[in-house]
Amino acid sequence: MCGIFAYSGKQKNAGELVIRGLKKLEYRGYDSWGVAYQAPEKLGLLRKVGKIGEFNLEYNKMPESTLAIGHSRWATHGGVTEANAHPHTNAEGTIAIVHNGIIENYQELKKELEEKGYIFKSQTDTETIVHLLDLYCKTDDFVSAAKKTLARLHGRYAVLAVKTGEHKIIAARRGSPLIIGVGENEHFIASDIPAFLEYTQQIMYLDDNEMVVINDKPHFYNLETQEEVEKRVVTIDLKPESAEKGNFAHFMIKEIMEQKDTIYRAINQNDTDILKLAEEIKKAYGTFFVGCGTAGKVCLAASYVFAKVAKRHVNVVVGSEFPSHQDFLKEKSLVVAVSQSGETADTLEAIEVAKKKGAKVLSIVNVVGSTMDRMSDYTIHIKAGPEKAVASTKATTSQLAILTLLAYACNNDLQEGKRLLIETAGQINDMLNPRYEEHIQKLADKIKNVESMYVIGKSVNYPIALEAAIKLQEVSYIHAEGFAGGELKHGPIALISEGTPCIVLVANDETRQDILNNAQEVKARGGYIIGISPQQESVFDYWIKVPDAGMASSLVNIIPIQLLAYHLAVLRQNNPDMPRNLAKSVTVK
Ligand code: AGP
Ligand code: GLU
Repeated sequence: MCGIFAYSGKQKNAGELVIRGLKKLEYRGYDSWGVAYQAPEKLGLLRKVGKIGEFNLEYNKMPESTLAIGHSRWATHGGVTEANAHPHTNAEGTIAIVHNGIIENYQELKKELEEKGYIFKSQTDTETIVHLLDLYCKTDDFVSAAKKTLARLHGRYAVLAVKTGEHKIIAARRGSPLIIGVGENEHFIASDIPAFLEYTQQIMYLDDNEMVVINDKPHFYNLETQEEVEKRVVTIDLKPESAEKGNFAHFMIKEIMEQKDTIYRAINQNDTDILKLAEEIKKAYGTFFVGCGTAGKVCLAASYVFAKVAKRHVNVVVGSEFPSHQDFLKEKSLVVAVSQSGETADTLEAIEVAKKKGAKVLSIVNVVGSTMDRMSDYTIHIKAGPEKAVASTKATTSQLAILTLLAYACNNDLQEGKRLLIETAGQINDMLNPRYEEHIQKLADKIKNVESMYVIGKSVNYPIALEAAIKLQEVSYIHAEGFAGGELKHGPIALISEGTPCIVLVANDETRQDILNNAQEVKARGGYIIGISPQQESVFDYWIKVPDAGMASSLVNIIPIQLLAYHLAVLRQNNPDMPRNLAKSVTVK
């Protein structure tokens, strides 16, 4: 949640540069934003409610400066107001900070500071940090005061601070991402790499419990030992265009279309590595698949593939619930964490719990160098390229592909798994054509005004029904729910009335007849049946053809849903890339 961008260097207008950087990070949080820039006397401050993408720099020139910090917020504490927008400043306006995360002991700190006479101007947890820093700056230099402040904070955070008279940025992290971009006599700090990719591909990682002081050269400190730490500069292999929309109207449709080749990329892994990881799964005493939201549904779908193909039981637990299962973890257990961003706080917490128990962690992540990537024993990168739309699409199918590959590898059938997935990738490539999209657009137009819709599936398509509901909820804001087809008669069928759309996910296997029977039960109560199926069936009112992909049916069945969700969002005049109340990377618990 929240995008952070900062700049220190030779460019003449750091404030404008930071605003441009924040625009690239807007998908991480977009209810309000702000920038603090180094002005001679005190810090200049600009804060606004709304999306930074709508702020036009041509009509809003900023004063010259060579150092600035900025933030695009996803509110956790305090409503969406200008006063709650970051940066937050001390009373004199000489110190400014931006923050991502939640300060869990903010109430206690606030009480202490109020007793000392500090007056709070916002309702955020964040404001405690700036007053605490102000307090310590009265007796200590800026860097020591920052260290003392950070030592008082509980919870996960990424924090940046600046102070008048000090041409430096202090940044620190514990659980929330921050990456340093290294240019020529200039430095960038951002929540993710694509934000500064147009300026530099050279980066330095700031790890948890570390602080960096950036003036001419960055100095890194371990906050536990207080020692300075040496860091390497790493060159990142990412092209700036990969994080741009190009000719597409939205990132979401661009990323859906990229599935023409992302699945090939995902399965293009080193066979020896995959076989080695399959061995880890086989020898584990308890395997736990963990993810949140869509990644959690991917885990559930993969558990069916593991059951069928590898004949192995895996436990599936959503990240936020994982701590309750910790008693089942042993040193020989394996946690398989699935995440696009590699920064989701609930999944990170699950990994921390697993590590405390001595269990091994395998991460399946998209963002290289993310916290999850760096803290896991093993990682498989899904290689989908930057995914910017809040709704996950290409990362989902790539994660499904990798887990399917692992299931086949566990069954000593890696080549068979590859063959299946290469064929499926080809089928998906064929599906993503303009005529197919038009057919789905027509359906979107038919159902765009409904209040509720349902999705049903069986076996591996049951988790896909759950994922379909997330996709529809997120961007269309239509009330959507997914069920196992067989569960309808145990309650949810009471929700069906004349014309209620019900999407039925069909696979051409032993589950086909059962799910079609469930569709008949819905139709008998007036439901409008949308079939996603390899063949036309008499129960369908609207048929969307998908290829018969066998064990990979989850990958092909989610594609038309992604397109439907996107077109419903557009028709209902929602911004599919930045749905209300959501943010791309959920870095708070
Ligand atoms: C997906 O469309 C959602 N935006 C969301 O559920 C997401 O999958 C979840 O927050 C997990 O994110 P991650 O994959 O980055 O860990
Ligand atoms: N907790 C802070 C707030 O609500 C930071 C939220 C964020 O990460 O954007 O302002």
